[in-house]
Amino acid sequence: MFNKKTIEDIDVTGKRVLVRVDFNVPIRDGKVGDDTRIQAALPTLHYLLNHQATLILCSHLGRPKGEVKREFSLKPVADHLSMVLGQPVKFVEDCIGPVAEQAVKELSPGDVLLLENTRFHAGEKKNDPAMAKQLAGLADLYVNDAFGSAHRAHASTEGVAHYLPSVAGYLMEKEIIYLGQAIANPARPFIVILGGAKISDKIGVIHNLLDKADQVMIGGGMANTFFKAQGYPVGDSLVEDDSLDIARELIKLADHRLRLPVDVVIGDKFEADAERVVMSMGPIPDGWRILDIGPETVKTFGKPISEAGTIAWNGPMGVFEFPRFAEGTIGLAKAIARSNATSIIGGGDSVAAVKNAGLADKITHISTGGGASLEMLEGKVLPGMAALEDRD
Ligand code: 3PG
Repeated sequence: MFNKKTIEDIDVTGKRVLVRVDFNVPIRDGKVGDDTRIQAALPTLHYLLNHQATLILCSHLGRPKGEVKREFSLKPVADHLSMVLGQPVKFVEDCIGPVAEQAVKELSPGDVLLLENTRFHAGEKKNDPAMAKQLAGLADLYVNDAFGSAHRAHASTEGVAHYLPSVAGYLMEKEIIYLGQAIANPARPFIVILGGAKISDKIGVIHNLLDKADQVMIGGGMANTFFKAQGYPVGDSLVEDDSLDIARELIKLADHRLRLPVDVVIGDKFEADAERVVMSMGPIPDGWRILDIGPETVKTFGKPISEAGTIAWNGPMGVFEFPRFAEGTIGLAKAIARSNATSIIGGGDSVAAVKNAGLADKITHISTGGGASLEMLEGKVLPGMAALEDRD
């Protein structure tokens, strides 16, 4: 199932190891807002430190578009990691070039250095070989543990792997095993739940999974496009008009396996204090918009969920940041948590919903990847994973 070499397959003792992590975490008031991704990298970091490796960590943060922008600095992450690891984490204000090289020279085995945001260089996103070579020049080995960025073919996620012995970290391995297994060999019934605003983001996933899943349940803003494609007036609901044909085609292809909400919660404006009305699915009055799935849908979806063998969920069922329109997402999260299925959740918003509801420990695997987990579900090969060395 996982055919790439990992940190356990090579000798890391005393080596300088460049570790690509995904420390693209929310920063609030100069501090790390949610450290899930940092915690998720710890098994790999601890393993390397226990083997007296010298750690040179690199990551992107946000989308600074190839420019140095202070608000995207990884410095707060270095401070946070230092606390979590219980040892100093050095930080250097560039990820390549003389400053980075000097900082690496000063390291001893067991030290940890975090390089500044790789996306401060335009070469990162262009997968510029010159940048990849410079990164590779800092170390003896490359470990990719950045599952969340493995769908990006960037200099620090893919390019660098061509210039150093390159293996996967524990997080990368775990994510690929769970998501890969869910698609290749799921315990049945296999239920896929997709939400979020846009159908255009998830067309590939629906296409790929319609053959493989026993049911694909749709909620969130993307359901509106399906409703409109079926001929319902949807009021002021968010709709992607240029995806209507695709929605029609998917409905036809899916036959009975595609499930849409049977009732919805509508609001009179896109605001937390909007008036809230539950209605069976039908024409949405002008001036109103669909903001959540309804209680009947939570029940209807809940039954097959309770009997599922595998559940993969990506994307909220409504505007769950507004408590009045969060019940559908939370109701579904509870149904998934109650089931005995292998449950896999990806995507920042659905993960946040599960955590806010205090249900995270009832989920088999919470993915640290949004886009990356979706691309796995789409059946795509992730370039950051593909570039690593195969097991013999
Ligand atoms: C993510 O948060 O999904 C990853 O860190 C990738 O970020 P990106 O979408 O900006 O490439």
